[in-house]
Amino acid sequence: MARHVYPINRSWLYNSPPVAGAMQPEFDDSGWEPVTIPHTNRRLPWHSFDEREYQFVSNYRRHFRLPPNLQGQRVFVDFAGVMTAATVFINGTRLGAYQGGYTPFSFELTPHLHWQGDNVLLVEVDSTERADIPPFGGQIDYLTFGGIYREVALRIVAPTYIENVFAKPVDVLGDDRRVEVRCLLDSRDAAAAPQRLVAELRDGDQVLAAAEADVQVAGNVFEQVLTLGDLGNIKLWDLDHPHLYQVQVRLEQAGQVVDDYAVRIGFRDARFTPDGFFLNGQHLKLRGLNRHQTFPFVGQAMPARVQRRDALILKHDLKLNLVRTSHYPQSPAFLDCCDEIGLLVFEEIPGWQHIGDQAWQDIAVCNVEEMIRRDWNHPSIILWGVRINESRDNHAFYARTNAVAHALDDSRQTGGVRNFFESELLEDVFTINDFAYPTIAKPNHPLHFNTEFIGHTFPTKHIDNVERVQEHAFRHAHIHQQLAADKRYAGGVGWCAFDYNTHGDFGSGDRICYHGVSDIFRIPKPAAGFYRSQCDPADEIVLEPAFHWAIGDRSGGGGPGTGMICSNCDELKVYIGDELVAELQPDRARFGSLPHPPFFCDQLRGVWGARWHDLRLDGFLGGRHVIQKRMSAAGVDRQLHVAADDAVLLGDGIDMTRVVLRVTDEYGAARPFATGAMQLLLEGPGEIVGESPFALTGGVGAVWVKTREAAGQIRLHATHPVLGTQLVEIAVQAAPDEVC
Ligand code: GAL
Repeated sequence: MARHVYPINRSWLYNSPPVAGAMQPEFDDSGWEPVTIPHTNRRLPWHSFDEREYQFVSNYRRHFRLPPNLQGQRVFVDFAGVMTAATVFINGTRLGAYQGGYTPFSFELTPHLHWQGDNVLLVEVDSTERADIPPFGGQIDYLTFGGIYREVALRIVAPTYIENVFAKPVDVLGDDRRVEVRCLLDSRDAAAAPQRLVAELRDGDQVLAAAEADVQVAGNVFEQVLTLGDLGNIKLWDLDHPHLYQVQVRLEQAGQVVDDYAVRIGFRDARFTPDGFFLNGQHLKLRGLNRHQTFPFVGQAMPARVQRRDALILKHDLKLNLVRTSHYPQSPAFLDCCDEIGLLVFEEIPGWQHIGDQAWQDIAVCNVEEMIRRDWNHPSIILWGVRINESRDNHAFYARTNAVAHALDDSRQTGGVRNFFESELLEDVFTINDFAYPTIAKPNHPLHFNTEFIGHTFPTKHIDNVERVQEHAFRHAHIHQQLAADKRYAGGVGWCAFDYNTHGDFGSGDRICYHGVSDIFRIPKPAAGFYRSQCDPADEIVLEPAFHWAIGDRSGGGGPGTGMICSNCDELKVYIGDELVAELQPDRARFGSLPHPPFFCDQLRGVWGARWHDLRLDGFLGGRHVIQKRMSAAGVDRQLHVAADDAVLLGDGIDMTRVVLRVTDEYGAARPFATGAMQLLLEGPGEIVGESPFALTGGVGAVWVKTREAAGQIRLHATHPVLGTQLVEIAVQAAPDEVC
């Protein structure tokens, strides 16, 4: 009998503050609140709240019944992420506690279970900022929120089972390419019968290679490496064609499958060298942004679909080739999507500037191990971050984190983000935050990778005036130009992709760092247009003015001044009204190392009075007119756009999608000073996660729609006080009940 994994994300009961005896099976929980996982312990406004509001201890109870036919198997409960510490009880017995909000943990339930009746899990969740647990102990520039915010499952396996599999592609570009499959077994059977371990490399239904070995498990843990060789031609995993294979491992006994374990892998060779970064032997300048995994209203408690959406935004809207998971291991769903779409990842352990005492450091070393053991099969991950972000040097501590990473995974290099150049290098790659502007430092180490720039040096909002939003885009372009001009830089990861909630001692005074090239709702600011414009026109033709069209928003007035236009066209024509005012070439003199240098239009300076008309930008490639953008001179809010990211959701009471609200001119161009209290009315099997009325800021905003446990049709009516009502419909499909 193979393994069974049963999600238990529905039918939880929630209560705070904790009550005595809540772990006892007979405890009366009828008054507790029914919730689903992912769950935030406190829904919050999207800004201007006090972070102490979610720092408390809460309780979660979950009743379950086991499929009686599985009696005799071992049962584990797997938590993907609980913020920040969890103490777990089953049927009144304390199983243990886990410290850390970003890494998974499990407890074995087997000896305490009732196979015929009700079982009760009780999880006591401590969401305070405990100084004994990374990243806490000092200050941190982000919020962690609270609750069981990632998925939970019951895993039912044989007495001897496959605990983990690392299927490591080796010599990917050579003739002896192979997969070394490290199988980790766990047994409670001291004298287990002889068994057979089989590994297969599969491409869909096709088995490409297989290997097997007889194993005799003695003791608790056992390890066997199986090599899948003779592969012939394989499809590489790369950014445009991220081909994924499956490795399936089976444990057999007397011809019966006792356990199975499947992982996805990709064949790619990723390496930082003195000449920059190479993917599959090809030089690739890394162009990335940092991502925090937090969201408005629910903190980190977003389901898989919403986590995946972020990866899609980074790859398809911002055209990045890399994301850094600042500053912790992020959602498995996000990483899965990065594998599927071809987005490279630099993943790092939790921490921010502060290093705690020995016990704290021990947890951080464990975090390295837990991160790697969770994520070692992701082809998208190319670098392990094994330093506390921007911490001081600590030889003994970082010798340990590097040793653990190298011992677990000799196929990936390590990095560790520092913010001073004299720092002792124990990692393979010198990953450094260099916020200097206008000129970043020259590489001081052969493997140099700039992991943060701009950020707090230039916070920018949609509602800032035109000089600032344009300057924000310019600064990102300016740093990427320097990184592109010198092959010793592997590339750069700007700070950051999305605005994020932060502590009161950081940010703009409303618990937000406005450091994103997109806002906290993931809606692009002009700087996003720079990133977007760096893709190949075969992917998408991009034309993004870095300004809004306003006659007097600039100091001194007269249009936006010299207008920066981000585009991958090779020529632009600029019209004011019917008058052709400029024919532009990309600014190769200043930005010639970028794939697509921005354009600058001096003729937009001093546009006043009778010359003030609509702006029209025509983009050309090889002499062919390929794209046009218009911006209205009328200065009137004309259109309301309301759009859901997804048209179909699952009626499991968990699934969610974002609904974006935007006010534009008659051509669809942003109206960054548009306001209006949006009235949102939802009919059907769902709820609004967000505010209603919702006050637009910068002409934009968003809420999320979450399903209830039912099928049907959600109808969201969004009414703007001037621009009327738009209707968004979302189909909700029936979700099968959870088994346990
Ligand atoms: C860095 C830090 C980031 C963020 C950023 C703001 O020093 O690593 O987490 O705070 O500054 O620019």
